[in-house]
Amino acid sequence: MIVSLKALGLCLLASPTWATSYKEPYRPQFHFSPAKNWINDPVGLLHHNGTYHLYYQYNPGGIEWGNMSWGHATSDDLTHWEEQPIALLARGFPENVTEMFFTGSAVADVNNTSGFGVDGKTPLVAVYTSSYQVTQTLPSGKEVKANQQSQSIAYSIDDGMAWTTYDEANPVIQNPPTPYQNQYENFRDPFIFWHEQTNKWILVTALSEIHKLVLWTSDNLKDWKVLSEFGPFNGVGGVWECPNLFPLDLDNDESKTKWVMIVGLNPGGPPGTVGSGTQYFIGSFDGTKFTPDDESVYPGNKTSNWMDWGPDYYATTSFNGLPSTDHTVIGWMNNWQYGTKIPAYPWHGAMTAPRHLSLKTINEKPTLIQQPNEAWKSIESQGKHSSTWKTFNQGSKDLGPVGKTLDVELEFSASDASKFGIIVQATSDWKEQTAIGYDFKGKQIFVDRTKSGDVSFDETFASVYHAPLIPNSDGTVRLRILVDWSSIEVFGGDGEATLTAQIFPSKNATFAQLFSDGGDTRNVQLGVRRVSSTWK
Ligand SMILES: *[C@@H]1O[C@H](CO)[C@@H](O)[C@H](O)[C@H]1NC(C)=O
Ligand SMILES: *[C@@H]1O[C@H](CO)[C@@H](O)[C@H](O)[C@H]1NC(C)=O
Ligand SMILES: *[C@@H]1O[C@H](CO)[C@@H](O)[C@H](O)[C@H]1NC(C)=O
Ligand SMILES: *[C@@H]1O[C@H](CO)[C@@H](O)[C@H](O)[C@H]1NC(C)=O
Ligand SMILES: *[C@@H]1O[C@H](CO)[C@@H](O)[C@H](O)[C@H]1NC(C)=O
Ligand SMILES: *[C@@H]1O[C@H](CO)[C@@H](O)[C@H](O)[C@H]1NC(C)=O
Ligand SMILES: *[C@@H]1O[C@H](CO)[C@@H](O)[C@H](O)[C@H]1NC(C)=O
Repeated sequence: MIVSLKALGLCLLASPTWATSYKEPYRPQFHFSPAKNWINDPVGLLHHNGTYHLYYQYNPGGIEWGNMSWGHATSDDLTHWEEQPIALLARGFPENVTEMFFTGSAVADVNNTSGFGVDGKTPLVAVYTSSYQVTQTLPSGKEVKANQQSQSIAYSIDDGMAWTTYDEANPVIQNPPTPYQNQYENFRDPFIFWHEQTNKWILVTALSEIHKLVLWTSDNLKDWKVLSEFGPFNGVGGVWECPNLFPLDLDNDESKTKWVMIVGLNPGGPPGTVGSGTQYFIGSFDGTKFTPDDESVYPGNKTSNWMDWGPDYYATTSFNGLPSTDHTVIGWMNNWQYGTKIPAYPWHGAMTAPRHLSLKTINEKPTLIQQPNEAWKSIESQGKHSSTWKTFNQGSKDLGPVGKTLDVELEFSASDASKFGIIVQATSDWKEQTAIGYDFKGKQIFVDRTKSGDVSFDETFASVYHAPLIPNSDGTVRLRILVDWSSIEVFGGDGEATLTAQIFPSKNATFAQLFSDGGDTRNVQLGVRRVSSTWK
């Protein structure tokens, strides 16, 4: 078939042959980033036959957004990633791009409902947004307009390496449903999953400008019909993108399954941030309609269910092919406000650490819990350095040059201090530093990146960010902090409050320090592990 031959030829041309040491300034050491060029949203996350597939929005021809294609990386353990040949290369690249492949998702069609299977091989099917660059008549005979966004499919019968676009019929969802057909330029980001209870495929798309999600159903991944719509709801400060819908058991109780809807918002992110953010709603899904619980609406404050309270967590999506007891997501660790201007070179953008999700009742409210569970800590030979202080006196304690890749666990209780926390990625003169801690009066985590290194590329970057966190009933506060060469991820409490922020510190910013401001802090327990690079 012409299409697959062409796709194969282009794949070979576009193989990631670029040599990199993965040691350039700011290069993430245990987060995925491509060897070179621009990335944004993770897409098509799929666990299949023991391999984690991470596809991602990728520009094969530049370090800024453009030529959007699906890049690809694989991992056995969600920790060590290997970049693979491009999965879906912008059609017409490099001379005359007529169709770009935007955000989408992927499934293993184990029952061959699509009929794409060959010789007993399970077909993998990806659904993506076709972004048409020019008015054109497609191989399927369908006519599309310039700037139109439609939903198309592609399949792989070699476990996710080579993909063939379904040109006989693409796009499989050409237009938004009536009465929203005038939204054809902002109709995107299909997330797909198998719904056991009704034996159907379900797909969620965003009508970005009007803050609506549309749910669709199919028996064969090719013919789709509308089920319902959802929204506008809560945060609508920018466009809605990258929806995600999945079940989780509340408090590990199988009789209390709830459904979580995640929606990206750009701009209009969490308070104190500028640019993109990610919100979530907890509710129910009956196979047709998503209904948020009453608790998802906060009277007088319609934007407080943020999945992450930092500036650099967007476009999160979940792995298909994992049990709901191991529901795992990855987000894009960047922000549209300054994403193309960050000082990293020759790549722009990285993925967050994988987060394992659960639902827990906290203060009588079902709450999304996020935890990084990966094994990167076990590969560090130096083990964990632990220290405890019954009373940590007002002031600071230097921890020395602990390094630039850390997994920090910090637990403490209030005494009369106003703030307690840790400074990381500091130069020996403390002129450059990033402070992470807890504000006892405001009951919130903070990350202060005002002096974190290079902050010059965007006027909003040098800021302090906050995430609300109520201490445990015994008054203790727990923080888990992942520090990489250019990022901080904080998980507060059980993981009910998270805050992700990029930083661009100097090479010599290896020092750390604990601090207690305004008084003493009690029962301080510190555990620090150095994390090794996960690049081979
Ligand atoms: C699954 O992966 C193993 C290697 O890890 C491979 O030998 C086997 O052929 C794969 N099975 C299928 C059905 O793709
Ligand atoms: C798209 O790729 C082409 C070919 O490499 C390159 O010349 C062009 O600059 C790229 N566009 C963008 C916006 O990066
Ligand atoms: C680009 O491709 C489109 C669609 O195939 C075609 O109509 C157009 O003439 C091409 N433009 C160039 C400059 O090759
Ligand atoms: C495959 O078919 C079985 C038997 O009908 C069904 O239980 C299962 O949910 C299906 N799975 C998928 C992913 O289609
Ligand atoms: C999947 O369906 C196609 C089309 O009906 C058929 O050719 C193929 O044998 C089927 N099964 C598998 C496992 O490949
Ligand atoms: C909304 O929630 C944020 C974060 O908890 C808080 O800072 C703000 O004061 C709240 N606003 C209202 C009106 O309740
Ligand atoms: C750290 O490195 C930066 C950039 O090379 C340099 O300007 C600065 O003086 C160094 N600071 C210390 C305390 O060594």
